[in-house]
Amino acid sequence: MSDILVTDKKIAVLMGGTSEEREVSLRSGQAIFNALKEMGYNCQAVDVGPDITDVLRKQQIEFAFLALHGGKGENGAMQGLLEVLGIPYTGSGILASALAMDKEASKKIFAFSGIPVAPSLIIACKSGEDALSSVAHDEDSAGIYYYPDFPMPNFLLPWVVKPADEGSSIGVSMVKDAAELRSCLEKTFVPGRRVMVEKYIRGREIHICILGDRVLGGVEVRPSTEFYDYDAKYTAGMTEYVIPPELDYETYERVKSLALRACMVIGCTGISRVDFMVDDDGIPHILEVNTLPGMTATSLVPKIAASAGMSFNDLIREMIRLAIN
Ligand SMILES: Nc1ncnc2c1ncn2[C@@H]1O[C@H](COP(=O)(O)OP(=O)(O)O)[C@@H](O)[C@H]1O
Ligand SMILES: [Mg+2]
Repeated sequence: MSDILVTDKKIAVLMGGTSEEREVSLRSGQAIFNALKEMGYNCQAVDVGPDITDVLRKQQIEFAFLALHGGKGENGAMQGLLEVLGIPYTGSGILASALAMDKEASKKIFAFSGIPVAPSLIIACKSGEDALSSVAHDEDSAGIYYYPDFPMPNFLLPWVVKPADEGSSIGVSMVKDAAELRSCLEKTFVPGRRVMVEKYIRGREIHICILGDRVLGGVEVRPSTEFYDYDAKYTAGMTEYVIPPELDYETYERVKSLALRACMVIGCTGISRVDFMVDDDGIPHILEVNTLPGMTATSLVPKIAASAGMSFNDLIREMIRLAIN
């Protein structure tokens, strides 16, 4: 089976780019490139820069395998460029990518669709020179508050503070005392951006991998740190991974079906990873959908695939097949 090529098109593995997750993306890209080469695909690795349109044209690329994480590679922008150029690509399209990347937008859709979410508050920082000091409270805020006039969350501490549209736990921090919230926001804010203050859910962290319209499996993530931060994600030995998660049968089934529903309501295609916190009462709270999950040799999706009997090469081939059909 492994020597059947899904396509003879010229493939570019798009990786790197300028996002905060550049380094991880290069590792995902290299692993994907190696797998494609090993299987005999006509492929080349492309580090995405401002000249990407010219590179794709000059190299006569006919298919893009996306190994980008975060920023313009994951938020629908690259997907839009590829659509305009008429180059098919792996994974989710423009809208699903944009929605999944934006924790505020996707959370509204999850809540509307009956997928349990943790209580949260969105605080925005208007752009402009003295944005951090001069913004008046907006009466018609539609649930969004502008710094510095925001109400204290009406849900219990501790809180997790995170940018609404970043990934890889960048800028994520915990607040245990309400008096710390203001200084924490000041550290997290970038003018023009929004921050989500979310109730901290104590319990088990479960990630589910969706491939096409089926659940591939799940993993329980047990970081040695307080939460699954950047170091716990990318430093060997700092996190324990348990496959399958240690959940009772019914809870696991429920988390899996919620993950599938989350991908459906956002409109994801190809591969996605859906992250949950399951509280001590067994109630799952969705954290986010990742439309371009890590694909390094040690990433979670390849681990889950392996537990389902799928090698890394099988997974890569299936991702191409889903993108072409
Ligand atoms: N509400 C929460 N309760 C408990 N832990 C959380 C919560 N939100 C985030 N975390 C922790 O922070 C990590 C990163 O948060 P996440 O929402 O997935 O953002 P990112 O896009 O940066 O990965 C999660 O994997 C989890 O360990
Ligand atoms: Mg996450």
